[in-house]
Amino acid sequence: MPTTLDHKPHVAIIMDGNGRWAEARGLPRPAGHPVGADTVRTIVQTAIEEGVGALTLYAFSTYNWQRPEAEVAGLMSLLRQFLLIEAPKLHRAGVRITVLGRRDRLPLGLVKAIGAAERRTAGGKTLHLRVAIDYSARDAIIAAAADRPDAGTLVARLGTEDVDFLIRTGGDQRLSDFLLWECAYAELSFTQTRWPDYTAADFRAALADFRRRNRSFGGVTEAA
Ligand code: FPP
Repeated sequence: MPTTLDHKPHVAIIMDGNGRWAEARGLPRPAGHPVGADTVRTIVQTAIEEGVGALTLYAFSTYNWQRPEAEVAGLMSLLRQFLLIEAPKLHRAGVRITVLGRRDRLPLGLVKAIGAAERRTAGGKTLHLRVAIDYSARDAIIAAAADRPDAGTLVARLGTEDVDFLIRTGGDQRLSDFLLWECAYAELSFTQTRWPDYTAADFRAALADFRRRNRSFGGVTEAA
């Protein structure tokens, strides 16, 4: 568990509200996703500036396959484009990109873009950007725990450090099968703001709120 003052936090974000953002503007629901991708660019840059150690973004859950075929195809294409265009820029900024979740159901073009982005940015030390695609925390835990490993082995297989701070946009207050093991001691932050409207200032304010929180991890904290 992180206890040192110089620990760079692991921040996770459930990016919700793209569909409602579009609907509120008389647009088809999927029209919110490309605008959401612009927010991703802004928030990644802000995470670098704010000294975030790892940023895990929930881009596509295993349940999202139930969405209309055209919306799913649009999201897959958007994720591929993001990786192709952003990986070189993020590489220059020292960002390491990894993707978590199943790959066997993804379009081949996206799988290739993921592999290329991961290889290119493998040495990045500034920020670890993790994108969850076709991800379910329950599935990940079941797969990692199949032979009843000890906690250390399980954590290594999940491949994720504990989440320090989880943000969810879009008004709902639930975890939706995201990083269930890793969020055991996460501080939580929920905002009504829909993801396409979420700004660098919103993110900075949330991080400032997180830094003010007294984290006891079940123990006793000293009075301020
Ligand atoms: C939830 O909005 C959002 C998603 C299902 C997709 C998230 C994808 C992006 C933000 C864009 C691409 C991501 C990256 C990493 C480049 P919703 O459609 O469920 O919104 P609603 O709650 O209003 O229905």
